Amino acid sequence: MIEALASAESPARRVMRRLDEFARFSDEERALTRLYLSNAHRDAAKQFIAWCAESGLNAKIDASGNVWARYEGAKPGAPALMLGSHIDTVRNAGRYDGNLGALAALAVVEALTATRERLDHAVEIVAFGDEEGVRFPTTLTGSRALAGLFVRAALDQKDADGVTMRDALVAFGCDPEGVGALRGRNIASFVELHIEQGPVLESENLAVGVVTAINGATRLHARVIGLAGHSGAVPMGLRRDALAAAAEMMLLIEARARIEDDLVGTVGRVDVEPGAVNVIPGEVRFTVDIRAPRDEQRRRAVSDISKRLSAIAATRRVELVLTQTHDAGAYTCHPSVISALQASVERVSKAPARLLPSGAGHDTMVMGQLCPAGMLFVRCKGGISHNPEESVTIEDVEVGLATLIDFTRHFQANPKRSG
Ligand code: GLV
Ligand code: MN
Ligand code: MN
Repeated sequence: MIEALASAESPARRVMRRLDEFARFSDEERALTRLYLSNAHRDAAKQFIAWCAESGLNAKIDASGNVWARYEGAKPGAPALMLGSHIDTVRNAGRYDGNLGALAALAVVEALTATRERLDHAVEIVAFGDEEGVRFPTTLTGSRALAGLFVRAALDQKDADGVTMRDALVAFGCDPEGVGALRGRNIASFVELHIEQGPVLESENLAVGVVTAINGATRLHARVIGLAGHSGAVPMGLRRDALAAAAEMMLLIEARARIEDDLVGTVGRVDVEPGAVNVIPGEVRFTVDIRAPRDEQRRRAVSDISKRLSAIAATRRVELVLTQTHDAGAYTCHPSVISALQASVERVSKAPARLLPSGAGHDTMVMGQLCPAGMLFVRCKGGISHNPEESVTIEDVEVGLATLIDFTRHFQANPKRSG
């Protein structure tokens, strides 16, 4: 017995081991890439369900591909605290973005089942399927569905191979027609543990921090149509080079984002046609991602950038088709969740909690439209994320888990009003 206890795996170590095992579920052999509704996503979802079963949880995949499970409170049917994050990744990802929060949610329930502890509220856990929005033009599909904000037209969008979201859902074993009816019921709050993806906690030597607000984001898809031609035969003054025009547009986006504090603009993907050394590019497609903490600031930047890109297109005699593929308002985390997380950090870490905003987008910003929501950040090495170099320490994961468990135990679905 003593030997068994001595060799028992700590919750943080189990989470770290599972994260390593989880990283094997990839659409690519030499990198971690797990796109929404891919085979790797399905394998990861099945593994998550199997881990849930180890502690008696009957997890299911919902119509949008989220994995979801419920641990009842003392009284069946009580309002739930929902915990979780996403298990899709960007291309060539690190193993902690999203996945850490999904496995941390399971670890919280495991801490309760280990002692058969029942709380006044239920705990629901969720592993969202699409937070990154890398496969289809839209993003946050799973949390949008749960928040009752899914837009049916999204089912007709296509991925790079021409597969619609509707067909991808069917292939995954989901019912596309059910996505619009998924809205979560009786969820008192949503809380997401996530790596910080920035350098603030590390620079202040802190394991965890409480998120105050999440940047809003707009994504655009730009299609620049010029005229393909012979690289040797067409004089410079007579060209309609789509790539040269797109390059000028990209520099404009960078310059416009640079002139305002807190505003960021990124071109993350470029496709050039026909892509040959001796052909003037005839068509370029690129993505634009613009974020800011204030919605008014972001909207102004988007409008400004759109106008200036059109002006570049006119000067260079190319056609520009600009389509908005995503728009999410900034989210101010709910004050009741912020203060409860703050209290948990202070109880666990015995130090004042660091409050900080999030530049990255998260499922929390959508779940906040359904119920009070908030986030706990865990320090990551060098603030590096969306990169295979992403790294966290087991000690920090231990602090994060202890804080989330403390928060869950103290959570009140219907807080008594003071005064
Ligand atoms: C997800 O990581 C996003 O912020 O786009
Ligand atoms: Mn994430
Ligand atoms: Mn991410």
